[in-house]
Amino acid sequence: MDRLLENWNIGGVDVVNRVVLAPLAGIGNWFVRLQAKRYGAGMTFSEMVSSHGLAYGDRRTRNEFLRLDPREGPTGIQLFGADPAIMREAAAIVGESGASLIDINMGCPVKKVCRTGAGSSMLRDPDNAVAVATAASEGSGLPVTVKLRPGFKPGERDGVTLAHRLADEAGVAGIAFHPRHASQQHKGLPDYDLAREVVESLPVPVILSGGLLTDVKVRRVFEQTGAAAVMLARGSLGNPWLFERVTGERDGLPEPAEVLDELAWVIDRAGEHYEDGRAARYLRKFYPWYLERLKEFDGTYFTRARLNKINQRLQTTDSLEQARTALDSIDVPAAAGA
Ligand SMILES: Cc1cc2nc3c(=O)[nH]c(=O)nc-3n(C[C@H](O)[C@H](O)[C@H](O)COP(=O)(O)O)c2cc1C
Repeated sequence: MDRLLENWNIGGVDVVNRVVLAPLAGIGNWFVRLQAKRYGAGMTFSEMVSSHGLAYGDRRTRNEFLRLDPREGPTGIQLFGADPAIMREAAAIVGESGASLIDINMGCPVKKVCRTGAGSSMLRDPDNAVAVATAASEGSGLPVTVKLRPGFKPGERDGVTLAHRLADEAGVAGIAFHPRHASQQHKGLPDYDLAREVVESLPVPVILSGGLLTDVKVRRVFEQTGAAAVMLARGSLGNPWLFERVTGERDGLPEPAEVLDELAWVIDRAGEHYEDGRAARYLRKFYPWYLERLKEFDGTYFTRARLNKINQRLQTTDSLEQARTALDSIDVPAAAGA
């Protein structure tokens, strides 16, 4: 049997396959995760959520970030923060939310996050990183995983050493490993050989992230690294069909009508998540991703110039009604055989 389709277990959480949605800041809310699940993801992770924001935040912040849909399936809420006491409090709140596990972000290279000692800066203080992971586990009673990178700069291995300490001392249930060092941000080749070494040496499951943009690449890297599971990130943006391709449920590209129907679904869900104007503005980042699918399907019909025009119109929509009208005005070529 295809190992990608085998069920597995992480910290006592049963997962039906090895294909996971990565944490994506500003994107991975309940409906993006639900969408991934609808298309075959075995497990999903939330966008990163500030432990301080949760611990000090108002009910609305909690409701927005910790909103889960009962149809989502196993979901990890990703927290960031470098203060063990705050992490414990935030984790306790997550523990009440219905999430299956907590992931702690120790990989984010963004300055705003690192300046606070969180994200990839956690590699600089491994004792504190272990304390933060332990606090999350004790505070929530949930299994805890950590997402991290090998180090800050090429050749550094602090992240690998820390991963071992997190497993041995903090009892984390798994590691999500992105084998690009932090200074690479999201560019450059991930070091899959290093990932294999980490997979083979850690006593807990490793979920591999990085460079997984096509089904062919996912399968190759999954085999090459021996990882317990793979995490789809940029490859999944406006492309839930990638989950179907990876799980063998789809061969070809989605038809333009399917893409537009799916975008209409996203617009409807955004309207359930935010009030109308905010939803319309929030959706603007989603449009280019879906339009890319049209280009991919038929670049002679959906030329770059045509898609730019459609995108310009979508980018100026201020209400969901305007967004739906703009969407409805997109002509699609007749389906083959129609
Ligand atoms: C827009 C965007 C937002 C991201 N947000 C997060 C995040 O909140 N937490 C996290 O651990 N990683 C985050 N990442 C990193 C991804 O989860 C993933 O590790 C990275 O994109 C590498 O995978 P890829 O090359 O397949 O895209 C983000 C990446 C992108 C592109």
